[in-house]
Amino acid sequence: MAYLSRRDFLKGSVGVGVSSTLLAPCWKVGYGSMGFLFAGEKKMPFQQPPLPYPMDALVPYLSEEQIRFHYGKHHAAYFKNLNTLVEGKPEEQMSLREVVIRSTGSVFNNAGQAWNHTFYWNCMAPKGGGEPTGELAEAIRRDFGSFEEFKKAFSDAAAKLFGSGWAWLAADKEGKLSIMPLSNADTPLKYDKEPILTIDVWEHAYYIDYRNERARFVEGFWNYVNWPFAAKRYSLRNQPDQLD
Ligand SMILES: [Fe+2]
Repeated sequence: MAYLSRRDFLKGSVGVGVSSTLLAPCWKVGYGSMGFLFAGEKKMPFQQPPLPYPMDALVPYLSEEQIRFHYGKHHAAYFKNLNTLVEGKPEEQMSLREVVIRSTGSVFNNAGQAWNHTFYWNCMAPKGGGEPTGELAEAIRRDFGSFEEFKKAFSDAAAKLFGSGWAWLAADKEGKLSIMPLSNADTPLKYDKEPILTIDVWEHAYYIDYRNERARFVEGFWNYVNWPFAAKRYSLRNQPDQLD
């Protein structure tokens, strides 16, 4: 997944009250790009990755406030809950993907939501939109008839999903694409499929900006879709160790 430079991360984190003076230079002590530490803080097994863009980067589609609550409150809480739930348990030694695939109950709910949101942030980009190209574009035409037909089917699945959940574009091992509307924290990873693109349709994803108008929130998504990210996921669908 794509990650921010330290400068962009600090800029984007101001909205959640992070002071740059509290940040330990984790990029210098080996924790890699998946997380950061505050001075004196114990390293948790699962770290919320920084947003791949500043919190106001998707305006006017999503406000800084919408992202600040979604990323800084909801997504952060899933990581916090997960770390508490797995403390002292075998899951501490697993990758997040592995926990998602193998767990059930509360551990799955929090691990799934932690993974799904990180994926979702990367499905959007400030200069996104347009249409895919290359192998993914060909697969969409083959499996849905046209890009427009795919877009309509995906939008319908997202807008009509009952309750909370996610609309996914997923690929099987042979590369066949399908649209999967899934409830709560559910993910194509549970069905041995690789996620290619998703939109979060939990109310917390859009209620600040769109109130109850989910369809309008879904329509705006297309102007920010990160097609290069989706295309990369598709091309590496059988090499998950290369993905996350
Ligand atoms: Fe969400």
